Amino acid sequence: MAAPWLLLLLCVAGGVPRVRCQSAPDSTDVISIDCGLSEQSSYVDDATELAYTSDAGLIDAGSNYNVSAEYIDQSHWRSHRQVLSLRSFPGPPGRRGCYTLPSFVAGTSKYLVRATFMYGDYDGLNKPPIFDLYLGVNFWKTVNISRPDAVHVAEVIAVVPDDSVQVCLVNTRSGTPFISSLELRPLKDTLYPQANATQGLVLLGRHNFGAADLIRYPNDTYDRAWTPYTNPEDQWTTILTSSRVAMEVEDRKPLYDVPSVVMQTAVRPSNTTRNVMWFPWDAEPNHVYPMPGLLPVFYLAELETVDSKQERRLFLISLNRPNSSPSWLIGDFDYLVTTVVSRTTGRPVPFVSPKENLVILGTTNATTLRPIMEINSTILPPFINPAELFTPISTAGVGTDAQDVSAITAIKAKYQLIKNWVGDPCAPKNLVWDGLNCSYPISRPQRITSVNMSFGGLSGDISSYFANLKAIQYLDLSHNNLTGSIPDGLSQLPSLVLLDLTGNKLSGTIPFGLLIRIQDGNLTLKI
Ligand SMILES: *[C@@H]1O[C@H](CO)[C@@H](O)[C@H](O)[C@H]1NC(C)=O
Ligand SMILES: *[C@@H]1O[C@H](CO)[C@@H](O)[C@H](O)[C@H]1NC(C)=O
Ligand SMILES: *[C@@H]1O[C@H](CO)[C@@H](O)[C@H](O)[C@H]1NC(C)=O
Ligand SMILES: *[C@@H]1O[C@H](CO)[C@@H](O)[C@H](O)[C@H]1NC(C)=O
Ligand SMILES: *[C@@H]1O[C@H](CO)[C@@H](O)[C@H](O)[C@H]1NC(C)=O
Ligand SMILES: *[C@@H]1O[C@H](CO)[C@@H](O)[C@H](O)[C@H]1NC(C)=O
Ligand SMILES: *[C@@H]1O[C@H](CO)[C@@H](O)[C@H](O)[C@H]1NC(C)=O
Ligand SMILES: *[C@@H]1O[C@H](CO)[C@@H](O)[C@H](O)[C@H]1NC(C)=O
Ligand SMILES: *[C@@H]1O[C@H](CO)[C@@H](O)[C@H](O)[C@H]1NC(C)=O
Ligand SMILES: *[C@@H]1O[C@H](CO)[C@@H](O)[C@H](O)[C@H]1NC(C)=O
Ligand SMILES: *[C@@H]1O[C@H](CO)[C@@H](O)[C@H](O)[C@H]1NC(C)=O
Repeated sequence: MAAPWLLLLLCVAGGVPRVRCQSAPDSTDVISIDCGLSEQSSYVDDATELAYTSDAGLIDAGSNYNVSAEYIDQSHWRSHRQVLSLRSFPGPPGRRGCYTLPSFVAGTSKYLVRATFMYGDYDGLNKPPIFDLYLGVNFWKTVNISRPDAVHVAEVIAVVPDDSVQVCLVNTRSGTPFISSLELRPLKDTLYPQANATQGLVLLGRHNFGAADLIRYPNDTYDRAWTPYTNPEDQWTTILTSSRVAMEVEDRKPLYDVPSVVMQTAVRPSNTTRNVMWFPWDAEPNHVYPMPGLLPVFYLAELETVDSKQERRLFLISLNRPNSSPSWLIGDFDYLVTTVVSRTTGRPVPFVSPKENLVILGTTNATTLRPIMEINSTILPPFINPAELFTPISTAGVGTDAQDVSAITAIKAKYQLIKNWVGDPCAPKNLVWDGLNCSYPISRPQRITSVNMSFGGLSGDISSYFANLKAIQYLDLSHNNLTGSIPDGLSQLPSLVLLDLTGNKLSGTIPFGLLIRIQDGNLTLKI
């Protein structure tokens, strides 16, 4: 049996609430794209006052659509107009549509990436699709559009090691992938320590208990969407304060940073005899993560005055079963100071089943029905301000060697290839570009080992970029309309064993370096 998992993480220090120094991200820091918007269009969003632009310059695949008139007319989209246009990516299964977003904000490599989807019967088929979403080469989630008017939000907090990040939609034989908006928000590197180079946090819910309205940018510097969480059948009572709630900053490095306005509301059970409340965590099992785990972050701040002579605040947060392991025993909070309860290491709590995945807060021991601790004070009921629920994904997949990517991208541009040549050339393995073979060393970048573009309808000269594919063994450019001479650089490819140039209109002589390789018996040249 596993030892009980009891973790008490109190990010609390007494004293004067400190003023957080937040600098608002300026317009160059955030990227806000309204997919499918007409080229060169842009607007300022009513709710956030952030500028949204067309995706036209970022992508050459897919087609623009507006949702059908039936959904456009709904006035409640007025403050969410990103969902009214979209870009869809028709094509055979396995085909990808990818956006490449620059991510070069100085001093951070951690980002919040958010993709939004509303089908709105844009294609008149009334068949909401299901497709996969990737962050670079790593699986992010399955997007399962349940209803035409449902707004599906995919959000991940991840470390982006490179100066750009790709978001790809993959056709999985269940309809045409599409996307309504795409947003990139830089975070501070210290925030959300559970998100690291190999682990990303996919959002399951960002519940703002006791709140009446959605809170986003500018009230939340990072433009997280804190969603009011509905009180189930008046089982909860709202607690409010108009006073500022402090966020503790450790060593000047915030691990978590929640706006005071989000902390200023909370809920507790209405029935003070029972003193238990719960809410579900809605995981979505998928074909890559059939048992998604839970990584919760609970934010607690005492908003009521506690008479410490006679009363104590003390309760247990448990997952899936009352008093189960794992759980946290917490209490005696400082007034108007945020305590963060989370877990920065170890395994996430595994999925059980949709009805049993619960977060439970209570002051009574489920076994004995007595208070969790025998003390001579009145135990006050549990409460909760906001909570964020995440499920981890692996972001350990590294993608293709950067030099190989730039070479093959230049080759693609030169010959105006479309095919399935989008996203990473080699990864994931099942989506490798047509005509390429790659090597897959463990936890190192993939290398392109062969390129077969025979019968590819290529014309013009042989791109000098082929000579930059340093790991290539087989290069087959036969049966095209290539002209000009054979680039000398090809003789510098250390692993090249086959070069097939038959059926072209080449001229000039064979470079000396290649002749030597042929003489040594290390290269077969067909011409
Ligand atoms: C979508 O609607 C806008 C005006 O509401 C129009 O300018 C645009 O051309 C439409 N886009 C498409 C793809 O039909
Ligand atoms: C999509 O959602 C529907 C209902 O919401 C469910 O029945 C179905 O299994 C889901 N499909 C996938 C592939 O997740
Ligand atoms: C959000 O911030 C704006 C401007 O700072 C302020 O006017 C508004 O009241 C804030 N909203 C909430 C819910 O506090
Ligand atoms: C409050 O909870 C207690 C114990 O579970 C129960 O006996 C009582 O009926 C509840 N009261 C209300 C008003 O629901
Ligand atoms: C990221 O966090 C996970 C879970 O705590 C851990 O297993 C992994 O080793 C971490 N990766 C890095 C690169 O620190
Ligand atoms: C609940 O009661 C049982 C039996 O007395 C005890 O073993 C357990 O430690 C208690 N749990 C808590 C969280 O107090
Ligand atoms: C509670 O009060 C009783 C009687 O006054 C005393 O015997 C007991 O030790 C007290 N328990 C604690 C935990 O203070
Ligand atoms: C590339 O991979 C395919 C499928 O595994 C294989 O049939 C083919 O022979 C390979 N080509 C080269 C040149 O290695
Ligand atoms: C390239 O593909 C063609 C078929 O498209 C095949 O005949 C040829 O053998 C392939 N070349 C190599 C080097 O595998
Ligand atoms: C080469 O180009 C000519 C005319 O430009 C065309 O008729 C022929 O089909 C092309 N051949 C190949 C293999 O693409
Ligand atoms: C050719 O292959 C031989 C043996 O496989 C090796 O020793 C030699 O270095 C190679 N020459 C070149 C030019 O790669």
